[in-house]
Amino acid sequence: LSKRGPIPTELLPATAAIDGAGRLSVGGVDLVELAEEFGTPLFVYDEADIVMRCRAALSSFPGGVYYASKAFLCKHVARLVTGEGLGLDVATGGELAVAQAAGIGGNRLTLHGNNKSEAELVQAIAYGVDRIVVDDGSEVPRIAATAAALSPGRRQKVLVRVTPGVMVDTHRFVMTGQADSKFGVEIASGAAERVIQAILSEPHLSLVGLHFHLGSQIFDLSAFEVAVSVVAPLLERYEIGELSIGGGLGVAYVEGEVGASFEELAARVNAALKANGLQDVSVTIEPGRSIVARAGITLYRVGVIKELSTGTRYVAVDGGMSDNPRPVLYGSGYEVFAPGAAASDRDVPVRLVGKHCESGDVVVEDGALPTGIGPGDVVATPVTGAYGYSMASNYNKVPRPAVVFVRDGKARLVLRRETYDDLMRLEV
Ligand code: LLP
Repeated sequence: LSKRGPIPTELLPATAAIDGAGRLSVGGVDLVELAEEFGTPLFVYDEADIVMRCRAALSSFPGGVYYASKAFLCKHVARLVTGEGLGLDVATGGELAVAQAAGIGGNRLTLHGNNKSEAELVQAIAYGVDRIVVDDGSEVPRIAATAAALSPGRRQKVLVRVTPGVMVDTHRFVMTGQADSKFGVEIASGAAERVIQAILSEPHLSLVGLHFHLGSQIFDLSAFEVAVSVVAPLLERYEIGELSIGGGLGVAYVEGEVGASFEELAARVNAALKANGLQDVSVTIEPGRSIVARAGITLYRVGVIKELSTGTRYVAVDGGMSDNPRPVLYGSGYEVFAPGAAASDRDVPVRLVGKHCESGDVVVEDGALPTGIGPGDVVATPVTGAYGYSMASNYNKVPRPAVVFVRDGKARLVLRRETYDDLMRLEV
């Protein structure tokens, strides 16, 4: 365990500001006061940060940006990102249902999924989902038949998800572009080409693009260049006008990491297309993490602190693996800091743990907090906006936290805290 300086501002949302007393505000709202008002654990999102990233993505990828809603979805975020001109990538009927409830038009939506059910296809096509990403050849006749039955006057737009056979340097659970994957259609075996031909012969389908998704939390962008060179011959042979490069842009979580930018990714992908002789392919992207991760901060309240004879100082908070399963799932690293003393050195090494009945319930393995932080104080983990709330659970019957959006000095509750009644609502 090691000491640290103050929390680096590169890990905080765009509007984060520290006042003379060392208190951190986001969106003009003091975080310690937010914890008082809404309770803890609490997810706080900086709305301006999300808006800024939507705009950056769209200016680098004018062909189209589809927010990967799995990273964090609620009606408010669906409306916010589509209001900025993004589309929405939904991967299940449930994600689609939230988009529908938010009133997002089908023309903004792309349906993904490696195992789409009949009910999901019917739900999507009946709603008029603009694009469906074909993940297996067996889907071609199914989508065509459903489209013929439900929207006979319209050709359903589809993309084909291919596996370019590229390994990226990330955790193997979120690696997806390699040849041996449950996602997409193999290029190497000729399967992708057969699926393309099958689509071209279906009168109710219209092939608009190829898609790949190489994995998540990628820092080395050369994997995208290699993937482009693998799909280029198919784009050329079938005169396909769009390439969707999925998501995956890496985001900094801990001190010293530097996130990749939309601008650099776009430059490298466009250059790779050109190098492969393709001038007119429109590049689209499906960013999830890179849109919402840094906008989000989780606030916790400190409870028990144990100073062991081994030297480890365990600081327990009122959440844990139920609101952030990423450390236990992927060994992901986070920082911790005290929003009431955000300018202070973090000179006390700590291990931040949750309240769940598992030793693996660690939020920050190797963290540090300023001297004097004790029971009852508010601590925060930054960069929790992606795959935190969306993967949250009720383990140990811990209610899921509330989610608040802050902007221009105002806090807006967008998802209320779960209650014990909510925990009981499925009991029959
Ligand atoms: N498009 C497709 C088809 C995807 O499967 C994903 C993420 C994305 C886009 C968005 O990728 P992003 O820009 O967020 O990297 N739960 C894991 C991440 C799983 C990513 C799944 N697919 C985590 O917490 O690290």
